[in-house]
Amino acid sequence: MDFSTQTAAAEKIKTAALVVGVYAGGQLSAAAQAIDAASGGAVAAVAGSDFKGRPGETLVLRNLAGVAAKRVVLVGLGKAEEAKAKTLQTAQRAAVGALVSLGVTEGVSALAAVEVEGVDLRTAARQAAITAADATYRYTATLTKADANDVKLAKLSLAVTRAQVKEADAGLSEGAAIGDGMSLTRELGNLPPNICTPTYLGNTARTLARRYKMKVEVLDRKQIEALKMTSFLSVARGSDEPPKFIVLRHEGARLAAAPAPKRGVRAKPAAPIVLVGKGITFDSGGISIKPGAAMDEMKYDMCGAATVLGTMQAVAELQLPLDVIAVIPTCENLPSGRAVKPGDVITSMSGQTIEVLNTDAEGRLILCDALTYVERFKPAAVVDIATLTGACITALGYINSGLFSTDDSLADELLQAARASGDAAWRMPMDDEYQDQLKSNFADIANIGGPPAGSVTAACFLSRFTKQYRWAHLDIAGTAWRSGKDKGATGRPVPLLMQYLLSQAA
Ligand code: BES
Ligand code: MN
Ligand code: ZN
Repeated sequence: MDFSTQTAAAEKIKTAALVVGVYAGGQLSAAAQAIDAASGGAVAAVAGSDFKGRPGETLVLRNLAGVAAKRVVLVGLGKAEEAKAKTLQTAQRAAVGALVSLGVTEGVSALAAVEVEGVDLRTAARQAAITAADATYRYTATLTKADANDVKLAKLSLAVTRAQVKEADAGLSEGAAIGDGMSLTRELGNLPPNICTPTYLGNTARTLARRYKMKVEVLDRKQIEALKMTSFLSVARGSDEPPKFIVLRHEGARLAAAPAPKRGVRAKPAAPIVLVGKGITFDSGGISIKPGAAMDEMKYDMCGAATVLGTMQAVAELQLPLDVIAVIPTCENLPSGRAVKPGDVITSMSGQTIEVLNTDAEGRLILCDALTYVERFKPAAVVDIATLTGACITALGYINSGLFSTDDSLADELLQAARASGDAAWRMPMDDEYQDQLKSNFADIANIGGPPAGSVTAACFLSRFTKQYRWAHLDIAGTAWRSGKDKGATGRPVPLLMQYLLSQAA
């Protein structure tokens, strides 16, 4: 997608389709007013009657006299006094949807300049670009008859005032990078598990490192053994597919405008933010095997890893002045004669022993060793992202990602990012009392805590390995992909994480 801004008066903008906002009750946005005045009342004629202005409603008007655009797309903004960040997002989504279904190659939107409480122009422009990238992504990699050209829309321009150009352009560049990051995340999630293997994820990290001059290490089984990641390897051992442990580093802190250090005093290196992604490229459940129905969807069990890679691409593309380190343990979870069994006791990298009561609770077994490994970075914060529990879907459905943290300030920063980006998350409890459910008679900790509060006890398990730093966990089992007719990866929570990282870089 190609993004730009323009400052011509709405009625003079030459384009296949110009998008303007109209409120419920017939009230017109500034751009809609300009079109109405130039066309002798064509907008007012339908606003409030044929066109109700409900959030996300659209109506296409063609060949209006006195208007340079071939089509004017009215998009509903709801009641003016109720317009919120969510309304604008709904409207922008509907606008891009309309441009895609019209089959135009380019369009101009005046929506980003609509004033909504709590949304600045930069955020609105960022969201316009993210939405456009999201609506135009198509999976084609393994389809021989895919109509790759079914999306014609390739250019989106925002109509703004001269004073708004700078902020709008900045928002568009950010949104383009975030949108491309999401497309990478979705593509990795959607690729079949015989293609998107741990080796494939490792190669993707290497490609990103080469393209953006990041540092990368892809450790193999021998190197993982040398680190004593026995918990991670207990999951990997059931599969013939080689496991990988990926470390990808963006060193952006040196780009920050910092005052020169005093002579003789060495500048203190900034503490990095570490993102840890669950990379189970297929989760059969292992010996505690899953039922067959919808088992194909367990190819998405690497969406935490895919989110981390998509986020790193966006971070590098935007050259954020921060140190960000991605860490990905990745393997398959399969049953075999060598697979870990219920009852096995293993020793994690941290030294804590774990009784494996269910081999399908494998995400925490690979993440715990990664969470111990990252202590060496002395991180400012660690956020792990994982399709960790079906219980999180029971609790929050497909709307909110589950946010778990033992640190209130980090939780608040992430919730704020969720609100600002429209990539929703909800904080879940982590009271100490839940830890009791993880008691084992034969090891320091059991890997499952029984059915009650399954997503909480999974987070409690992880918390045992995160004592050395500020830590948060995002359970994205319900938000990383959609089932059903529109089955596919969503690219969430890349927008949330990018909003958080942008706020940390500011
Ligand atoms: N990858 C699954 C979690 C999952 C399930 C994500 C369904 C999306 C949809 C995870 O490895 C798993 O199997 N968790 C078990 C844990 C249980 C055995 C304690 C679960 O949620 O059933
Ligand atoms: Mn599992
Ligand atoms: Zn899993």
